Amino acid sequence: MQLLERLDRIENQEIGKLRRSLSALYGTGLTNPQLQSLLVQRALVAREFGPLYDKALLGVKDDPLRAGLKWLMREEYPAREKDHRLALVEDLACVGVEKAALINARPTLDTRLVIDGLHTLLDAMEGEAPQAYDVRAAATLRSAMEVSVSAEYARLLPLMVDPARGWSLTEQNSQFYVPHRDHDRKTRGLHLPAKGGQGNHADVFTRSLQRLVTSDALFHEAASAMRCAYGAKARFYRQF
Ligand SMILES: [Fe+2]
Ligand SMILES: [Fe+2]
Repeated sequence: MQLLERLDRIENQEIGKLRRSLSALYGTGLTNPQLQSLLVQRALVAREFGPLYDKALLGVKDDPLRAGLKWLMREEYPAREKDHRLALVEDLACVGVEKAALINARPTLDTRLVIDGLHTLLDAMEGEAPQAYDVRAAATLRSAMEVSVSAEYARLLPLMVDPARGWSLTEQNSQFYVPHRDHDRKTRGLHLPAKGGQGNHADVFTRSLQRLVTSDALFHEAASAMRCAYGAKARFYRQF
């Protein structure tokens, strides 16, 4: 089996594991305040988008990957349209979380460990080849900040729009969770030829990984970053 096909299988397994651990949340009967705390903590992980992409831009050498990272950062903070921060504030208001509660929130110890773990994956290692850093950064950011995000929000949204909660968020008025569920989603195998055009947020990294994962060592670099990134996400949910 080709390297990218193996990586694709590992990614699908990790997405499946994360989905299953999130489904377990359904059985726990989260109260409204518990789900609100979860969403506020999850928003603190989302707030690391800027610092993590910024850090990767310091280390990544590959020009097309750098361009992809910059495109994703512009998507996050568009100059003219509403940026993702404001969209998040508005969705959270619809589930009863005040803006001040979000601004003033502090990460729990578990959330801090998750964030630290993601930063560690983007640390530079002494003497490593530039391609190893590039592959690790692409696999980490694709997994932690794009593809897993879609899987997480796909599982959390039904809880948030459940009329029994008495909240005003719906699939139709959601400006943050629904768009991220859709534009961060993995829609194609990592080993399959990319479609034309820019594609969605996950696709940006498909092209980079296809180009950069050229040896067994680089495959292992990508696979291990993926497993660590999904492991961090699963750890995040275990605190609730
Ligand atoms: Fe975003
Ligand atoms: Fe995204």
